[in-house]
Amino acid sequence: MQYTVAMKRVIAIANQKGGVGKTTTAVNLAASLAATRRRVLLMDLDPQGNATMGSGVDKSQLARSACEVLLGECELAQALVGVAQGGFMLLPANQDLTAAEVRLLTLPIGRETKLRIALAPKRDAFDVILIDCPPALNMLTVNALVAADSVLIPMQCEYYALEGLTALLDTVEQIRVAANPQLSIEGVLRTMFDPRNNLANEVSMQLTTHFGDKVFRTVIPRNIRLAEAPSFGKPALFHDRESRGALAYLALAGEMIRREDEAFAARAREALAKDSEFAAALAEDGPPVAVTAPEAQPARAADAAPAEAPPSNGAPDTPHEPAPEALPDTESHAAGPHETQAPQPQSHAYGEEHGNGADDDEAHHEPLGEASTGQEIGEVTRR
Ligand SMILES: Nc1ncnc2c1ncn2[C@@H]1O[C@H](COP(=O)(O)OP(=O)(O)OP(=O)(O)O)[C@@H](O)[C@H]1O
Ligand SMILES: [Mg+2]
Repeated sequence: MQYTVAMKRVIAIANQKGGVGKTTTAVNLAASLAATRRRVLLMDLDPQGNATMGSGVDKSQLARSACEVLLGECELAQALVGVAQGGFMLLPANQDLTAAEVRLLTLPIGRETKLRIALAPKRDAFDVILIDCPPALNMLTVNALVAADSVLIPMQCEYYALEGLTALLDTVEQIRVAANPQLSIEGVLRTMFDPRNNLANEVSMQLTTHFGDKVFRTVIPRNIRLAEAPSFGKPALFHDRESRGALAYLALAGEMIRREDEAFAARAREALAKDSEFAAALAEDGPPVAVTAPEAQPARAADAAPAEAPPSNGAPDTPHEPAPEALPDTESHAAGPHETQAPQPQSHAYGEEHGNGADDDEAHHEPLGEASTGQEIGEVTRR
């Protein structure tokens, strides 16, 4: 049986700067992650309703939307709609959300946790939940950040790009302290990138200096297909799957999955290290003696592993049989068996081409299984 790591993440896509590619990222990343057979929910938390329209749902015809969900007037499940040309579920939104925000602001208590509470019953029904935030650090964005495990920050590499970033990072920090200590930075994504533009390259370098490996290696190019796909009400993957824009978001999905795998493998290695300490301690004490059952064989050191020993698919040289359900749950939202194909490195659709998002340590990446995300993504692009 093959396993891969379920993402189990709620990711808020936020930047209070307008027009930096939040919605484009939300819709296209949702479709790309869904293409890797993950169960994806996209939540539109912007009264502009762009993610709703970009997913082919008419925002003026909503029976229920994010507004009612936030105000506790309906269950999340009642407001969800399936996006056939995308492969994900959507919580749609429209301008009613502005009224919802005003109502939230009048609440004396609990206004920041409304979305988190509404999401709780459905959290485990999805592998990844993406939240498209409005271009403001308002109560809607605060609700998204309180509900999220991490925040993905799309940035356009231009002169004022870094301005306002401090305010966003301060907000993240305040929310960490006050309401959501787990909140982490998923990554900084360079969007609408033009490698021929010197300023873009300079700002890109500044971002790397500032955020280090939090900057995604995948870079989203400026691409006309990404810009026009919303007018057809579909992600670029369903509009022109060969376009550089669609491929770039597939590459981003691959990079995120690979990061998750690496974290999974690191946890497995850590647990294994404890396991061998245990074996070494056993060896010092001499082999265990069977006292009750005469036919019992002396235990092998490897068999004496604690019950929560990690699965061998995270580290190929382990003596254990795969036992993913026994993986220690060190990070409640991150790891868990997901019965599809095990992932491997991404396809680098755009990064390789431009030498910009390329993953130069791919050669050192230990395969976690037989099938690969690269292959999965290859399949998608060939479909
Ligand atoms: N990589 C890209 N290439 C070309 N056009 C893009 C790209 N990404 C986004 N766009 C276009 O740029 C505009 C702004 O993008 P988008 O709506 O995703 O930004 P946003 O951050 O969600 O904006 P807002 O802050 O208003 O919600 C849109 O017209 C979109 O189609
Ligand atoms: Mg938007």
